Amino acid sequence: MHTKALILAAGLGKRMHSDTPKVAHKLLGKPLINWVIDASKQAGCEQIHVVLGHGRKQVEPLVKGCKISYQDDMFGTGHTVMCAQDKLGNFKGTLLVLCGDAPLISPTTLKNLIKKHTDAKAACTILTMKVDDPTGYGRIVHSENGDVEKIVEQKDCTKEELLINECNTGAYCFNAQELFSNIKKLTRKNAQNEYYLTDMIAIFKKQNKCVLSYTTANADECLGVNSRSQLSAVTKIAQTKINNKLMDKGVTFLDPTLAWIGPDVKIQQDVEILPNTIIYGASSIGKGTIVGPNSYIQNTRIGQNCKIDSTHAYDSIIKNNVSCGPRAYLRPNTVMENNSKAGTSVEIKNSTIGAGSKVPHLSYIGDAKIGKNVNIGAGSITCNYDGKYKYNTVIEDDVFIGSDTMLVAPVTVHKNSVIGAGSTITKDVEKDSLAVERNEQKNIAGWSLRRKYKKNKRKK
Ligand code: UD1
Ligand code: CA
Repeated sequence: MHTKALILAAGLGKRMHSDTPKVAHKLLGKPLINWVIDASKQAGCEQIHVVLGHGRKQVEPLVKGCKISYQDDMFGTGHTVMCAQDKLGNFKGTLLVLCGDAPLISPTTLKNLIKKHTDAKAACTILTMKVDDPTGYGRIVHSENGDVEKIVEQKDCTKEELLINECNTGAYCFNAQELFSNIKKLTRKNAQNEYYLTDMIAIFKKQNKCVLSYTTANADECLGVNSRSQLSAVTKIAQTKINNKLMDKGVTFLDPTLAWIGPDVKIQQDVEILPNTIIYGASSIGKGTIVGPNSYIQNTRIGQNCKIDSTHAYDSIIKNNVSCGPRAYLRPNTVMENNSKAGTSVEIKNSTIGAGSKVPHLSYIGDAKIGKNVNIGAGSITCNYDGKYKYNTVIEDDVFIGSDTMLVAPVTVHKNSVIGAGSTITKDVEKDSLAVERNEQKNIAGWSLRRKYKKNKRKK
């Protein structure tokens, strides 16, 4: 049986008070809508459709690979689904409908929902949850024999209905043909003057079609993000879940409440995560590596047995036995080969640091290719930018760069050469040579004594 997902993501998210549309807000570094898309894929959906409206320019780049429909006026969730009819109207299969603002839904729950729905060949199966405080949610009304009868939105509830604590999570499976052949029957005769998708239930029931509910044991998964405080609550839940899973697999946290790891990060066993560490995106950490304290890692692959102390790394590759920090800043396209080092207060951008090479203190290395076993002295930098263009620096194997060297790019220092401390290197250096660029030093004997004598005289 074919299953496709339809994600409703056109709403503005007024209560976020933001220029960013709600579904583009990030949870542990990943936009809300991408959590929902990935869960649908993992649940087996063969195609993902999204309906965009508010802030579509900001959301569109996030949903590459999805089919997109647009909702220009917000007339409610039923109207949102109508807007997808152009692309899905002919689909004969199961349509999993999800809200783009409920990121924690798990693939397992979705699989269970889909299974119940398809096994029973139902017209609709609603994912429901039982909560202590149902405020704001649509209530599930059952008839006396226990069948689902209808969903009533909070604002349309009678006093009795308000007391029901089984709620609509906003996730459903529909028989796509039943949905689209009946969706025109929705009206806006309700407290909010909207087309409610939830009214499909009563429409199906009138036609004696099968409507089921599947109640999740894990209501936390269904929390929606409508405000910043809900975003922070959802963050806490996701953080706890992810870190617990990592600990089960052999990762040590000094304090798991002080580490934020994105859902797609891969961490091997015997990694140690120290406090105030954030690891987001497509990052991975190899066995035996210590990350933190105070590190921010994004889209960076880190190998085994590394020490990544107070380091910020973006879109970079760090191989094995590498030491970074404290206070190393690896900007995009940095490659740290095996056994290399980016030490204290070192910034590296778009550069390769070869195997065994060290940049231990206070350096800027940009647009450079550094070979093997090179030592870059303290305070040395590549001058890669003339205010208009960027240029490359090449430093070949076994070179020793003395402290406080300025390498004015484009420039190449060939194999096994030495640069004297304090040099400004503007010309290529041949292999096996010493390059020194430095004014002669003058020592003036007795100068200090004479200066003191003058000062004393002035005081009198
Ligand atoms: C909806 C359900 C409610 C359920 C709750 C779960 C309806 C009528 N009600 O209510 O029963 O308990 O979700 O969270 O469906 N959206 C659009 N276009 C619109 C309106 C909404 O794309 O015109 C999208 C929103 O971006 C959001 C989702 O649909 O992702 C849900 O919309 P929202 O307004 O939050 O619905 P609720 O009132 O919370
Ligand atoms: Ca909502």
